[in-house]
Amino acid sequence: MESSQVAVIGSGLIGRSWAMVFAAGGFKVKLYDIAQQQLTGALENIRKQMKELEESGFLKGSLNAEKQLALISICTDLKAAVEGATFIQECTPENLELKKKIFAQLDLIVGDNVVLSSSTSCLLPSKLFTGLKHVKQCIVSHPVNPPYFVPLVEIVPHPETDPSTIERTYALMKKIGQSPVKLNREIEGFVLNRLQYAVISEAWRLVGEGVISPTDLDLVMSDGLGMRYAFIGPLETMHLNAEGISNYCERYREGMKLVLNTFGPVPEFSGETEQKISQAMSEKIPVVPKHLNARREWRDECLTGLAKLKKQMSSN
Ligand code: NAI
Repeated sequence: MESSQVAVIGSGLIGRSWAMVFAAGGFKVKLYDIAQQQLTGALENIRKQMKELEESGFLKGSLNAEKQLALISICTDLKAAVEGATFIQECTPENLELKKKIFAQLDLIVGDNVVLSSSTSCLLPSKLFTGLKHVKQCIVSHPVNPPYFVPLVEIVPHPETDPSTIERTYALMKKIGQSPVKLNREIEGFVLNRLQYAVISEAWRLVGEGVISPTDLDLVMSDGLGMRYAFIGPLETMHLNAEGISNYCERYREGMKLVLNTFGPVPEFSGETEQKISQAMSEKIPVVPKHLNARREWRDECLTGLAKLKKQMSSN
């Protein structure tokens, strides 16, 4: 049985979200950062978010906001932050040297029973953890922004990660209401970003080749594919769109290959197409904090509503 204390290293966007998710799960959280000011700002932001979530009825967990807040404490001493924790979630900036330095520091002060987990979006476990004394206890738990509303966590082991580390991380993620998936080995981009980049690159080519406008391209996803992808993945989609997978392959194998063979090379993501997409997006949402933040807030409200709907639908 896990003890109920975790440490979150780095109190930026993702660190705050993890702290909230753990507190919602009833865990005591020690939030660590290098600057006291950063931590007080983070705690203030968490308090504000929790109060708003409580008022709108979207606060996760069985405790009220005050009780969840009481579970979170802040700390600028790394050793004190990780003392007593059975799980450490690192959320510092995406910089290999910095993260390696932090894991080397942690390696010196932790015992043999804690899980050392990184939020990295794209640094491979073999780059982050190789050579650490506690490498068997190291793992990547990659969240999706915003983790409070988008529950997926990609669990990516180092080749030397102990299977018990994977299982403990998986069980913990389940326990706090996230939706973990296990990768059997590391791969560039993990899985979520590989799928995302496949979509982005074809979107870029289609707009670049003048097949469709940027705003219509986005509609194909938000009012088309995305509608069902919120509930079923691409493989189940195949299964249901015919009489099972084999029947789908029989019917669409040649057509899919024909289309896929017309895909172009990896785009440069620069030049004329960049200008075109940037202009269209900026007309819709001007690149100034006021407009970007308003749209982000709207997106998070949509995601909150979707999370609620998914919960309702799954209990039917
Ligand atoms: P951020 O820049 O908002 O926060 C980073 C925090 O780390 C700051 O509070 C900073 O003061 C702190 N920090 C800097 N040096 C430190 C040190 N030596 N020790 C402790 N804390 C230190 O970054 P964000 O967006 O929260 O990203 C954190 C990690 O999460 C990155 O690895 C990123 O790739 C990953 N991630 C980010 C997502 C996103 O959409 N922002 C999504 C999924 C993962």
